[in-house]
Amino acid sequence: MFGGKTYMQRGSVYLALVIILLMITLLASEETPSRASLFDVQRPFSASSSSVCNYAKGKWVADKKRPLYSGFECKQWLSSMWACRVMGRPDFSFERYRWVPRGCNMPQFNRFTFLRRMQNKTIAFIGDSLGRQQFQSLMCIATGGKESPEVKNVGWEYGLVTPKGAPRPDGWAYRFPSTNTTILFYWSASLSDLIPMNNTDPPPLTAMHLDRPPAFMRKYLHRFNVLVLNTGHHWNKGKIEGNHWVMHVNGTRVKGKFLKDISHAKAFTIHSVVKWLDAQLLLHPRLRVFFRTISPINWNGNCNNTVPLSRGSEIKGNGGSMDRVVESAVNGTRVKILDVTALSELRVEAHIAGSKLKPKKPSNVTSTAPTVNDCLHWCLPGIPDTWNELLIAQI
Ligand SMILES: *[C@@H]1O[C@H](CO)[C@@H](O)[C@H](O)[C@H]1NC(C)=O
Ligand SMILES: *[C@@H]1O[C@H](CO)[C@@H](O)[C@H](O)[C@H]1NC(C)=O
Ligand SMILES: *[C@@H]1O[C@H](CO)[C@@H](O)[C@H](O)[C@H]1NC(C)=O
Ligand SMILES: *[C@@H]1O[C@H](CO)[C@@H](O)[C@H](O)[C@H]1NC(C)=O
Ligand SMILES: *[C@@H]1O[C@H](CO)[C@@H](O)[C@H](O)[C@H]1NC(C)=O
Ligand SMILES: *[C@@H]1O[C@H](CO)[C@@H](O)[C@H](O)[C@H]1NC(C)=O
Ligand SMILES: *[C@@H]1O[C@H](CO)[C@@H](O)[C@H](O)[C@H]1NC(C)=O
Repeated sequence: MFGGKTYMQRGSVYLALVIILLMITLLASEETPSRASLFDVQRPFSASSSSVCNYAKGKWVADKKRPLYSGFECKQWLSSMWACRVMGRPDFSFERYRWVPRGCNMPQFNRFTFLRRMQNKTIAFIGDSLGRQQFQSLMCIATGGKESPEVKNVGWEYGLVTPKGAPRPDGWAYRFPSTNTTILFYWSASLSDLIPMNNTDPPPLTAMHLDRPPAFMRKYLHRFNVLVLNTGHHWNKGKIEGNHWVMHVNGTRVKGKFLKDISHAKAFTIHSVVKWLDAQLLLHPRLRVFFRTISPINWNGNCNNTVPLSRGSEIKGNGGSMDRVVESAVNGTRVKILDVTALSELRVEAHIAGSKLKPKKPSNVTSTAPTVNDCLHWCLPGIPDTWNELLIAQI
């Protein structure tokens, strides 16, 4: 805060009044942002332009108008493994809640308004499968789950095509022709640059450059208007060794103890990518970058609770994020935090666990289909829809 109090003590009542008036103006303009102008006016970001409200604080309220699309629909984009309606989950009370941030002016989501605001713009998600969930959610809420044959697959424009022999491309890009809005996802679980090491002995190793953002991000950044990043759940020994990723910094293999600790390596990478983007934001004034905080996982494997809000419905107080790593990385930069951790953690019942896996082909074993025990991903429609509502409210 700037020192209104000090000025008062000096007896400069006039100055104090001016400051108070200035602050009131600032507060008022933050509360009723002129939606259309946010992108047009090249509003300089400043680390101190703290927003009036914190979207991460607030409460879940019952809302009969939810969900924003049906889990039986949106087949064009929704993976069936995440569509709990299709997968035969028996209870769906978790779908009927809406997050209400405390003290924020957050209009109800309207897909037509959203697309109009995003005219000629590109929204990019780069991250892991939780980022992919948020991407699919945005496609579903933007179409209302309706069949939308007019939406064009423009993956080729971003090199997102299935490589020979691969099961799928590294990402997807779709364009709404009515508003020329593009929404894309690129898979980068670690947000670091991955380069094959071309070693002759198997297994094939991949250099993981912790201080270098993925090549895709560097190549296409200038085409994005909104970029949403996430990482987290791949930073463990099992995944890193399983993928044969070898950590590199400054172009050489990491030998020191510090980065051998995976949580340090993760924090180092998050800080590096944020630092790089902070510098890039000066060159791309129309770009908004958000770092989404970690999506909570229930490590006890006990997320088979089906009672909504059994952990409470409200996040109170003025404390910071539960994700200290992302919070400290973005602090003082032009990159914004999309803080979803605490509000998602209240919704343990909205994880996928409990769905019945339906066999891919009709068979005679349906009744004994195994139960999926996924306490990491979320049913869609579900919690990632809320992450998008919070994102949209802030762009
Ligand atoms: C779509 O938007 C891009 C900028 O994002 C612009 O370059 C292009 O001309 C637009 N296309 C149409 C048909 O309006
Ligand atoms: C979108 O792009 C087209 C083509 O460049 C342009 O004619 C139109 O004015 C743009 N619309 C907005 C809202 O930027
Ligand atoms: C391995 O080969 C690929 C393809 O030729 C190349 O792009 C990459 O830079 C090489 N990696 C190293 C560490 O030399
Ligand atoms: C990378 O290089 C920088 C600058 O030369 C140096 O400060 C840093 O310690 C190096 N980091 C590692 C892990 O080698
Ligand atoms: C839920 O999980 C706990 C712990 O894994 C287990 O003891 C319990 O039986 C489960 N309940 C249901 C309804 O599956
Ligand atoms: C952000 O940085 C400032 C100044 O370096 C520090 O005082 C503050 O505690 C930091 N805030 C968080 C949430 O890390
Ligand atoms: C159904 O079960 C029978 C007997 O176990 C088996 O021969 C048959 O292949 C099964 N059908 C399918 C579609 O799996």
